[in-house]
Amino acid sequence: MKALFLAGGMGTRLRPLTNHMPKPMVPVMGIPLLERSISELKRCGVNEIVVSTCYQAGRIEQHFASDTRSGMKIHCICEEKPLGTGGAIKNCQKYFDDTFLIFNSDILCNIDLKALVASHREKKADVTIAAVEVKNPSDYGVIEYDPEETIVSFTEKPKPGEEKSRFINAGIYVFEPRVLDVIPTEKESSIERDIFPLLLKQGYRMAVYRGSSYWIDIGTPQKYMQAHRDIFEGSCLVPENNFKSDQVYGLSGADIAPSAKITGPVWFGKNVHIGANAVIGPNVVIGDGFEAGRGCEISNSVIWNNVSAGSRVDLDHSVVTAGCRIGSGVQCQNTIYSPESKLPFA
Ligand code: GDD
Ligand code: MG
Repeated sequence: MKALFLAGGMGTRLRPLTNHMPKPMVPVMGIPLLERSISELKRCGVNEIVVSTCYQAGRIEQHFASDTRSGMKIHCICEEKPLGTGGAIKNCQKYFDDTFLIFNSDILCNIDLKALVASHREKKADVTIAAVEVKNPSDYGVIEYDPEETIVSFTEKPKPGEEKSRFINAGIYVFEPRVLDVIPTEKESSIERDIFPLLLKQGYRMAVYRGSSYWIDIGTPQKYMQAHRDIFEGSCLVPENNFKSDQVYGLSGADIAPSAKITGPVWFGKNVHIGANAVIGPNVVIGDGFEAGRGCEISNSVIWNNVSAGSRVDLDHSVVTAGCRIGSGVQCQNTIYSPESKLPFA
């Protein structure tokens, strides 16, 4: 089976995390989100992937061109100008001649993809949309469906109070290739605003699948932090770590001063140096090459690769993006620290 990732968005709401990095490449517990999703697909028997790119496309292409680990055939298709989610899918039509999967690239979830595809086939649907229940449906595509789980209406981001249901589009679809004929060629269009309503009007059979045990759209810095908290707590499962059984990962490869105190859950990348009397944890993710000076205190934070912190740096509820140099004595709470700026969480 093949899958398509929509990975060309600007990631505007995730700035400054996306200043130098497209949203699908943002690291979640040290691994780019898109790489996580692709590895998961491999485990489910998908063997060929198309990634539809636009914003900072080179970053995605370089990463997957040199990625020999996944063993997948990966095609990156770059749009000269954004085609929207509908136009992006249409632009990749030639790759798909059988039932296939489509994913938004900013989703972290635990979903049984085999059960999703089985449900699609059983219902003989043209399109199946994975749906999740949320408290604030107006931020998403809202789905109204009947007792047979057939979709009766799809409304992208309705005004608050005008939502017809609390079930929303999780950004994961099963498509039959014939559906692609409905999307206009070489034209900007939105799968959510233009094409789903059109398919319903033309009588295509659209079904929902409600089987995800965990789901989050990493569209804002708050949700980025929430995703890490959920992995630490165990509500989001990732294949490589289980913080319920092991509280600290990567400790053996790290150079940690004997007087430093590590309180799990903590995840360390490679080549980390922690100075004397530092206090690290709980709920801390430390990227490759991190250097912490004497007496640093870091809690509830995510630090990307190649960051250094001078002595007595105090970080809490913060994200530090790649390559930052934090001067001695700096204190940061609820801050997104990037080379260009120090911004409070909105
Ligand atoms: N190739 C390409 N070209 N990809 C695009 C483009 C484009 O012009 N525009 C957006 N994308 C990609 C983004 O990179 C992202 O992976 C996906 O399409 C969805 O775009 P977002 O910008 O993240 O949309 P959203 O979060 O506001 O809403 C979407 O996701 C919700 C679930 O998180 C919609 O699909 C909603 O209906 C859905 O509920
Ligand atoms: Mg999104």
